[in-house]
Amino acid sequence: MSQAHLHLGQTLSFVADPFEQGPEAVRVDAQGAVLVQDGKIADLGSAADLRKRHQKAAVTDHGDALILPGFVDAHAHYPQTGMIASWGKRLIDWLNTYTFPEEMRFADPAYAAEVAGRYLDLLLDNGTTTVCSYCTIHPVSVQALFEAAEARNMRVFAGKTCMDRNAPEGLRDTPQSAYDNSRVLVREWHGRGRASYVITPRFSPTSTPEQLEALGALWAENPDCLMQTHLSEQLDEIAWVKGLFPEARDYLDTYEAHGLLGAGGLYGHAIHLEPREKDRLREVGAALIHCPTSNTFIGSGLFDMAGLIAQGQRVGLATDTGGGSSFSMLRTMAAAYEIGQLRGTALHPAQLIWLATQGSARALRVDDKIGNLAKGMEADFTVLDLASTPAIAQRADRATDIWEALFPTIMMGDDRAIKATYVAGKSMMP
Ligand code: GUN
Ligand code: ZN
Repeated sequence: MSQAHLHLGQTLSFVADPFEQGPEAVRVDAQGAVLVQDGKIADLGSAADLRKRHQKAAVTDHGDALILPGFVDAHAHYPQTGMIASWGKRLIDWLNTYTFPEEMRFADPAYAAEVAGRYLDLLLDNGTTTVCSYCTIHPVSVQALFEAAEARNMRVFAGKTCMDRNAPEGLRDTPQSAYDNSRVLVREWHGRGRASYVITPRFSPTSTPEQLEALGALWAENPDCLMQTHLSEQLDEIAWVKGLFPEARDYLDTYEAHGLLGAGGLYGHAIHLEPREKDRLREVGAALIHCPTSNTFIGSGLFDMAGLIAQGQRVGLATDTGGGSSFSMLRTMAAAYEIGQLRGTALHPAQLIWLATQGSARALRVDDKIGNLAKGMEADFTVLDLASTPAIAQRADRATDIWEALFPTIMMGDDRAIKATYVAGKSMMP
């Protein structure tokens, strides 16, 4: 057993879902404490009680900073790190002009390793402890991300992006090689340490029906893997899908018909859904991943958070780096709030924080391991300075409760608000 470590500060944990119970679902202890031992949360409570109970523990006092679960980014493309914030295109042109040429570079294992390490360090700087990322079609790009995650002991989800049409030479595999290469990666990485392999057809326009079928078969053979893809992001994309799959009832049907609809399915964007699609997604218990900075940056549309949650959909939150314009889940929560406002619903800060932590962990089906501060959970947590800039400090200063104190950091905060990030109890700050 390693030495126990007591972290003192304001602590934030969930006792229920704030979309069901409101802010009462969140417990904030102004003088709280978290005890970490062997990478897990061994105790949680008031500073006074825990100090008494664990007198031999080492102590780190975070003052009045807020200790909360590490952020969980449920959809990102780590290979797009170097071309984030590329100007002036919409989805299909953006992919062809900026994304595909950059993804081509990941055939080089040294380049993939360099970007993977840089990307995970950027996440940690932003308080994110888990990500679910696309890689490129190159198996070495998956290897690079899982190796970088293993070196940092991070719980990371990733998969080889599969594309066998409508992508340039050098970025295309085949139904058979997509299946074979993905299968080898599942065997090598799924469940190794904190790694989880995710079966990853990029989206229907870049896969033939034969490739979708092959990946559907792989998923059926490995039902405890998640499957990630994109769904109904832009109207032009949806029209393209209808042209490519004339038999399909709708966009979701292009996945459903090939065994790619299920409870472990993660459907990125899901903005322009038809009623049948919503019904099927809810019936199977799939997850919809909201990527708000991407949806405004690429001009995709306004996700219907309130309507979809009221319907009982499982929703996660994500940056979608580099279609998304940020690595920060604070900035992502702010954009989710703004899109909510444009659709007539003000999301409460308790709901925003839940989406960025336990909600995304639930989408990834690991909410029994991460996404909350509770006994037995893995000790991935973030320490937030609620007065990280003069502009934020002067606003937080007049707050009368924790939500008013936290909201300026959600709306205006960035990596300067991250005082520390802990992965399995270990500080990841330089
Ligand atoms: N649809 C298919 N591929 C991508 C991608 O890389 N980014 C976004 N935002 N949408 C996609
Ligand atoms: Zn994406």
